[in-house]
Amino acid sequence: LKEICEQPDALKKTINPRIKNGLPDFSECGLTDEKLRSYHHIYIVGCGSAMHAGMVGKYVIEKLARTPVVVDIASEFRYRDPLLAPDDLVVIISQSGETADTLAALKLANSIGADTLAIVNVVGSSIAREAKMVMYTLAGPEISVCSTKAYMVQAAFMYLLAFRVAYARNAIDEEQCRQLISELSQIPSKVQKCVDDQTQYQKVASKLISADSLLYIGRGLDYALSMEGSLKLKEISYIHSESYAAGELKHGTISLIDEDVPVIAVATQTGIIPKTISNVVEVKSRGAKVILVCTDACARELKDGVADYVIEIPHTDELLMPITAVVPLQILAYYTSINRGIDPDKPKN
Ligand code: F6R
Repeated sequence: LKEICEQPDALKKTINPRIKNGLPDFSECGLTDEKLRSYHHIYIVGCGSAMHAGMVGKYVIEKLARTPVVVDIASEFRYRDPLLAPDDLVVIISQSGETADTLAALKLANSIGADTLAIVNVVGSSIAREAKMVMYTLAGPEISVCSTKAYMVQAAFMYLLAFRVAYARNAIDEEQCRQLISELSQIPSKVQKCVDDQTQYQKVASKLISADSLLYIGRGLDYALSMEGSLKLKEISYIHSESYAAGELKHGTISLIDEDVPVIAVATQTGIIPKTISNVVEVKSRGAKVILVCTDACARELKDGVADYVIEIPHTDELLMPITAVVPLQILAYYTSINRGIDPDKPKN
């Protein structure tokens, strides 16, 4: 909980030094605009929560820069003979900088001659030393096994990178880039608001204590975020959960849904909120209890009874929503763990 509460501060430490004259700045590691224009493909590789931060990066880079991004689980990437070339960029994400599969993926990328950028928290770690370029997330030590503030700053880094890639490739102009950076700079106070709202999330967590299985659903960035929410819950509460792209439910998985399987639906992306809400209606009609995490604007328009519990996220640019909306998911997992008498800092195994 201490690390969850440190997130606003960690965000400031990661973001602020990387903004120069109102624009994201990667000069400390030598990642120039010229290089960013030259890469043919961008790969993002990590494990667990680090890979989930990479998923956020993929959505944002592709949306803003119109550049394809492949996200890979390090343990798959290293064994699948990836289609890497020397004019590609491989972004390696790791809190510890010591995860064996991630380090091996980095070495593979180096051996093929691709450019490698490590986004690492632990200074001087193996991954930091091995990468051609390194940027530190500066979140401070993460003592709890479960990644919270590390995920948060990794995701924030993905935004800085996305904005710079888009700017370097002329997909957004300087004014748009400054506007996005200005929104990102305000994110720590919005995350603080979510942290301050934890009593509200604590109440909702009390409804999950006896569940055997849960489903997280969302679309687009909300799906990327659902993956992280689901991992947090299973890691520290030992309740089975899965995250599912909401539109994919009807292709089989919906048969799992009944009154004993709570569903956590994330709906923060304006264009697809009605789609996700229609999935919520489907699971509710099969008896599921639904916790809906959504924007305050979405909550105002909801019809009565659509969801059993609604968690509202303060307004921000919707592209940045995964940074704020992850907080209630972390806190739900935290209190579910505590309510079940588990030590969330040291999960078994
Ligand atoms: C989940 C978690 C793990 C790590 C993963 C990668 O809460 O902590 O999924 O994110 O093991 O670790 P790093 O970032 O140290 O490479």
